Amino acid sequence: MNETPLETDTLSVTYTGDREIEAVKGVSIAFPANRLTTIIGPSGCGKSTLLKSLNRLHEIQQHVEIDGDVLLSGDSVYDTDEPAPEIRKQIGYVPQTPTALPLSIYENVAYGLRIHDDYESKADLDEKVETYLRKVNLWEEVHDRMDAPGAELSTGQIQRLCVARSLAVEPEVLLCDEVTSALDPISAESVEETLEALKSEYTIVMVTHSMAQARRLADRVVFLYLGEVVEAGDVRSFFEDPQTERTRQFIGGPTPVDPGSAGDTTEAEDASTAAELAASSPPEES
Ligand SMILES: Nc1ncnc2c1ncn2[C@@H]1O[C@H](COP(=O)(O)OP(=O)(O)O)[C@@H](O)[C@H]1O
Ligand SMILES: [Mg+2]
Repeated sequence: MNETPLETDTLSVTYTGDREIEAVKGVSIAFPANRLTTIIGPSGCGKSTLLKSLNRLHEIQQHVEIDGDVLLSGDSVYDTDEPAPEIRKQIGYVPQTPTALPLSIYENVAYGLRIHDDYESKADLDEKVETYLRKVNLWEEVHDRMDAPGAELSTGQIQRLCVARSLAVEPEVLLCDEVTSALDPISAESVEETLEALKSEYTIVMVTHSMAQARRLADRVVFLYLGEVVEAGDVRSFFEDPQTERTRQFIGGPTPVDPGSAGDTTEAEDASTAAELAASSPPEES
């Protein structure tokens, strides 16, 4: 097993539309295997842009330029003959807004397997669909209505369905962009539990604006500010012993990482810290 399945090499991403905005500036990060790395930072700092450039998802928009590289198991995802959909199969992506395909629950999970012709028989497909619904803790809730439309599920269930769909094609890396921010607290908790259960088995890169969530879930933290990495490290040292003033300011001073009490920091506290930081030093682009 490759210990660093994914890394970036002085990666820059520039929007070249009406106004030129360098959203990601020369970022080099290694994402270790079977760990959850979270990317945190105030709004507008390039977190989503960075995440999408990891599997070339930004290419679905116009006027975006890339410099530097992204390496998957040592091979460039840009300088390659592999088509982008093949890259995106290996580096799955779960967006912020949970969206079911206009298909049954079963077909929502089978979707990628059918597209990539990645199954041997109907029995094999059935088994894979069940396996991945179990992995995201959704099987018990849906196994008796697999033919019902996916859109009938609650938003929290749909988000777990999206995770199952991404995992079904057996990616090496899973990218998650604020995957709980559109959910009510109970649904958010169930999605967090799913990520918690998956993180020892998958290489996950998760963007979050919530420091409480970063503390609960992350093994490693990357703090992005105005497109640059300010600090990166393991979760405990990041929060307990931040190395830069900017990090201390962002996290609001060193706080003990205690799995039992980590959830005590509310989202409201997170938001105010980010807002204060942004107010004290506003992003130049906006
Ligand atoms: N499609 C786009 N076209 C032009 N600028 C964009 C686009 N998407 C994002 N940006 C700009 O790039 C910067 C980073 O945005 P984004 O990656 O969405 O940040 P975050 O996810 O941290 O909130 C911001 O200044 C934002 O306005
Ligand atoms: Mg974003």
